[in-house]
Amino acid sequence: MKLFLDTANVEQVAEIAQWGVLDGVTTNPSLVAKEGKDFKETVLAMCTHVPNVSAQVTATDFDGMKAQADEYSGWHKHVVVKVPMTVEGLKTLSYCKKKGIRTNTTLVFSVNQAILAAKAGATIISPFIGRIDDLGQDGMDLIAEIMQAWNNYNFDTEVLVASTRHPRHIADAAQLGAHICTIPYSVFTKLPMHILTDKGLDQFQKDWELVRKKK
Ligand code: G3P
Repeated sequence: MKLFLDTANVEQVAEIAQWGVLDGVTTNPSLVAKEGKDFKETVLAMCTHVPNVSAQVTATDFDGMKAQADEYSGWHKHVVVKVPMTVEGLKTLSYCKKKGIRTNTTLVFSVNQAILAAKAGATIISPFIGRIDDLGQDGMDLIAEIMQAWNNYNFDTEVLVASTRHPRHIADAAQLGAHICTIPYSVFTKLPMHILTDKGLDQFQKDWELVRKKK
């Protein structure tokens, strides 16, 4: 399972990359706006830390998306062009597939959208589970349905679980065999933690002090 950081903050990427577990980063226009830094510089800086950096197109028509896909993919070989799940987006996915440009389809909320994006040639699809949870439904049900369809038809498009909100989302996604999870920094930094690890280590340290004192 690949783990991505869902952020446009380069310092956060540099920090988590040092753990040796980070496979990529997903940015989106909202995350970029929050940091207030130059988009291209941000993406290029992240590309020095990880091999997959999703950079989202902002055009909504095919010609505009195509031009941005060509531009972003030329910045660095680690760039993955993020394309919204629209009809114009499907045309862009198909164009990128033919040109060998890696893509991540964003804003996927149904199995049918997932199938269309995969058939159009998406490298990755991103179902947003937290936003479905926000509606009072279970976003993880969508991942289960997509993984079932993937098992039935052997799509080679990777399923990236996006809009994760807490550590249980990542564990559940792994149980379902999702290929990638993108995780906000606040959730990523909770993943190594367990109260029994802290308690156990504290006791080991105390006991070791007793051993040292006997010498
Ligand atoms: O990468 C985009 C996705 O993860 C958004 O998450 O929390 O805005 O629903 P959120």
